[in-house]
Amino acid sequence: MTKIFVTRHIPEAGLALLRKKKSLKLDVYEKDRVIPRRELLRRVRGADIILSILTDHIDAKVMDAAGPQLAMIANYAVGFDNVDLATAKARKIVVTNASCPEVSESVAEHVIALLFALAHRVAETDAFARAGKYRGWGPELLLGWDVTGKTLGIIGAGAIGQGVACRLHDGFGIKILYSDVRRNPKIEKETGAKYRKLDDLLRQSDVVSLHVPLLPSTKHLIGAHELLRMKKTAVIINTSRGPVIDEQALIDALRTGAIAGAGLDVYEHEPSIPRALRRLRNVVLTPHTASATEETRGAMSKAAAANILAFLAGKTPPNVVR
Ligand code: GLV
Repeated sequence: MTKIFVTRHIPEAGLALLRKKKSLKLDVYEKDRVIPRRELLRRVRGADIILSILTDHIDAKVMDAAGPQLAMIANYAVGFDNVDLATAKARKIVVTNASCPEVSESVAEHVIALLFALAHRVAETDAFARAGKYRGWGPELLLGWDVTGKTLGIIGAGAIGQGVACRLHDGFGIKILYSDVRRNPKIEKETGAKYRKLDDLLRQSDVVSLHVPLLPSTKHLIGAHELLRMKKTAVIINTSRGPVIDEQALIDALRTGAIAGAGLDVYEHEPSIPRALRRLRNVVLTPHTASATEETRGAMSKAAAANILAFLAGKTPPNVVR
């Protein structure tokens, strides 16, 4: 029997695929909350595979608690900064993520939702209308700005960044700039995107959108220095990982008008969202829900199961992270 510990219930689509295999014993943490650390350390004991979510810190202690038979960590997320990869690698534990086309599509849609919410002041005007403040149409009431024709700076031109760029280029005639550790001929060909050094991208963009993984090299990639490079009229959107932006520097930049706004789905110390950020009117905040659609969360569940089934069949799983 192969024992799989699932740290929180995920959509049934993938679990059903695993349940069909008689040689697998699935143990799913039964409460719909982040598993407490102590409980995690207790429940992983004897597991061959851990199916984790992004809020679990799967470090050496968890791997020790599982035992030497632990062979795989299948993370139910695209990001994998919650897993100690170096330790897993040293112990020859295979780590996979739940990357699938649906995630890129959902997150790209969410970026666009945040962008339009900022440009057309959707959250702010909704609050205004609900509060009974609408006293009649006004030529200069709550003016926003048009997205059409603006310049978008994509930082990290992987599948999600590319998805955002294509949709905005095709639908709204947006000019695309991008910055990455390597050039991406596909984004250049499909959207006419121009490669820029980070500083130049920040200086020239009206909208900056972050699509990099959280690594030591991307922590605080955007800090006070970078925010000051941006146009005063520009907005920044983060659907990657919170610590990619220095959150305090962002709050300062939003307060002082160094930039015009921010659309955020992720935060530096989740689940905490600083009060100072929540009080600002020039931000739109969502609770790490960029991929939270029925379709995508189901597809991620199937992707996690496909990784496990491939591994158990002696094949290289589709989404090994290295
Ligand atoms: C969500 O943030 C993910 O990494 O899938």
